[in-house]
Amino acid sequence: MAGLDDYLSIKLSKRQNEGLLRTLKHPASLADFCSNDYLGLARSQELMEMIQSAFRQLRPLRNGSTGSRLLSGNSAYHEEVEHKLAGIFRSDAALLFNSGYTANLAVFSSIPGKDDTILYDEFAHASIKDGARLSLAKKFSFFHNDLNDLEKKIRRSAGRIFIAVESIYSMDGDLCPLREIVRLAKTHDAFIILDEAHSTGVHGGSGSGIATELNIADQIAIRVYTFGKAMGIHGACVAGSEPLKQFMVNFARPLIYTTAPDNHDLVSIDCAFAYLSAHLELQKQLAMQIKLFRRHAEGVPGISGSESSIQTAIIPGNESVKKAAHALQTKGFDIRPILSPTVPRGRERLRICLHTFNTEQEIVELAAALAELVAIGESDYLSQ
Ligand SMILES: Cc1ncc(COP(=O)(O)O)c(C=O)c1O
Repeated sequence: MAGLDDYLSIKLSKRQNEGLLRTLKHPASLADFCSNDYLGLARSQELMEMIQSAFRQLRPLRNGSTGSRLLSGNSAYHEEVEHKLAGIFRSDAALLFNSGYTANLAVFSSIPGKDDTILYDEFAHASIKDGARLSLAKKFSFFHNDLNDLEKKIRRSAGRIFIAVESIYSMDGDLCPLREIVRLAKTHDAFIILDEAHSTGVHGGSGSGIATELNIADQIAIRVYTFGKAMGIHGACVAGSEPLKQFMVNFARPLIYTTAPDNHDLVSIDCAFAYLSAHLELQKQLAMQIKLFRRHAEGVPGISGSESSIQTAIIPGNESVKKAAHALQTKGFDIRPILSPTVPRGRERLRICLHTFNTEQEIVELAAALAELVAIGESDYLSQ
């Protein structure tokens, strides 16, 4: 044991010396500009009461799901929730997963075969890259949102071609050119795998995401939706055809070899979508918050001014961005630095998440604080 701990401690010290040590922290009681609770559903008392009341009425009573979906873990309620999700996402079928991470592992590890090719955006989420790594297919990245590079790589690809993109990129907050990607995929008979993690809830009627909002969902072979962000709860689903669902039930190891979502997960998903459908004004409120921030942060160097609830302020260098985040935290804003190698070196950033519940004053003051921070300049806040 001591030998192992020595080895682990050396690795951790190396990380610490590089300024990259990760630690688990409790959320600060500061103004939340870092969580993915874009619509405030995680903190909604009304939704919480809906979930608790529906949970108490569920029969049969079970605290846990007791097994894999393929053994004792399935129920009529799992299938009912999947049926509802397929309706929301306008797909023939939907398959539940415990998280977006496992949904992506399942899709990428099971569907593209050894003669196929996965082409993924270089800024794709770790779960897409990890899933691709588990696949026997050939895999290549293409430059972020670069249709020319994507087409060049499509032309060089063999077998079935799977193009992996996100509707809203998690670290940059920018949107993928989905219509153009659909056109390109059609030209080359390629299949799109779309991760809607950061658009689920925020876009589309009932929170059904960008593909349905643009009315092109039927052009996309596989769509992944997650519920731990704007939906304020937990879990995920893959939406697509019935054969896609049945294939994953047979071959997707992250579905087969894990305990199924339990009743509390199911009732939370059911209630969160029902709640959002009755409160679609939340999407409009979020759009207003984004506009407000963009108006006040306009012209501040390094600020992305993206169209989504994820904004970034590029502050190159891990130490610089950590100091910048600390400076904002001392002013009352919960903002976290995103370091390399999570993002490319030189593109370290503050990731700023906007929410319906942020007050106008908080947003205006944050924009002013960011402007001040940039004006002070890197050398000054480094020495603070
Ligand atoms: C684009 C993207 N896909 C998938 C995931 C994973 O989702 P989950 O948190 O439900 O595992 C995330 C979460 O950070 C994400 O940003």
